[in-house]
Amino acid sequence: MTNIGIIGAGMIANVHAEAAKAVGTNVVCVFDPRESKTNEFAKKHECDVASSVEELVARDNIEGVVIAVPNDQHAPLAIQALESGKHVLLEKPMAMSITQCDEILAARDASGKVLQMGFVCRYSPAAMKAKHLIEDGTIGDVLDVQATLVRQRGIPGIGGWFTTKQRSGGGCLIDIGVHLIDLAMHITQKKSPINALGKCTRAFTIDSYAYEEMWSTPVKDGTFDVEDRVRAIISDSSGTTFQYNVAWATHLPEDTLQDGLLIEGTKGALVVDLWADEMTLGYSEEGNPKDKKITFDVTEAWDDAFQGEHKAFADAVTNNAHTATAGTGEDGRLVQMVIDAIYESDAQCRQVEV
Ligand SMILES: NC(=O)c1ccc[n+]([C@@H]2O[C@H](COP(=O)([O-])OP(=O)(O)OC[C@H]3O[C@@H](n4cnc5c(N)ncnc54)[C@H](O)[C@@H]3O)[C@@H](O)[C@H]2O)c1
Repeated sequence: MTNIGIIGAGMIANVHAEAAKAVGTNVVCVFDPRESKTNEFAKKHECDVASSVEELVARDNIEGVVIAVPNDQHAPLAIQALESGKHVLLEKPMAMSITQCDEILAARDASGKVLQMGFVCRYSPAAMKAKHLIEDGTIGDVLDVQATLVRQRGIPGIGGWFTTKQRSGGGCLIDIGVHLIDLAMHITQKKSPINALGKCTRAFTIDSYAYEEMWSTPVKDGTFDVEDRVRAIISDSSGTTFQYNVAWATHLPEDTLQDGLLIEGTKGALVVDLWADEMTLGYSEEGNPKDKKITFDVTEAWDDAFQGEHKAFADAVTNNAHTATAGTGEDGRLVQMVIDAIYESDAQCRQVEV
């Protein structure tokens, strides 16, 4: 059995604990500077409370740690855990700059431990099916991917760390855009982005945004100095284009929002809803357009994905090596490069090199 500690006891740490336990991993201990959160977490998941990060990563009874803390803490804590000889499952985004990514990679290499990125969408049953279909040649060579993730009301903790650039590194792009950017490159295996054109904007303010229960508590006098929407086009050296449409919140009616991936190839196309149990394949028969549904097994796609991530981490800890689906540190760095290029393109109002 794999034994892990969790650093952070917030929203996603609880999801990790449930998923880890579901696949037979033992959640041994947790640390969060917010004592009430830590105690609540420890009671719920029946684990020990560590008194500090130092104490948690020094424990002999854990082999790995999950890092589920605000983005500005990713690099220092990942480095600390790796230097203490622990395998690390690091939540996305990898860090807030390429320099920090390189520091994490150097710590990983010096430690000889596994660094797995929390690119959980890779394990959605639909994403795995789409990747297999592309590998099989079902749609030919991939020409274009349109990836959309537009929430109607989904600004996490508005006014808090997520919407404070100094702590998050950016808004919806670095928060949820990272998932799409990684996924599109992973599914298509087109991993040589060459240039980026992006525009980041903001439609909402703390006062103009009414809040939904699932996105934690708003901070009324807090900070909101990041984008809530982004549009970007990335060109890959293979000629493939990636278009991203990401927003934390929108005025568009809910029934007009169509999240997912439209993947178009030379022989066919896939319409992929990441959290569904079927997708549409478009193709042509004697030159005429045809389409059909492709179904696959899903229990509960979100749970399946987090459990897949934890199975992969447990395997990595046991074998000291990555499984094929797992996001690596290099993948995290590549996504950071694309994000940085989109922010730079927005700042300079022109296309930039990745
Ligand atoms: N994979 C996903 O789909 C997904 C979803 C949500 C969040 N995330 C990522 O997970 C991370 C956490 O997000 P969240 O929604 O759980 O945020 P959150 O605000 O709910 O929780 C973060 C917790 O980290 C704690 N913390 C801060 N500094 C710490 C430190 N030095 N040591 C230990 N704990 C510390 C905070 O007190 C807080 O309880 C973020 O990086 C976010 O991008 C990923």
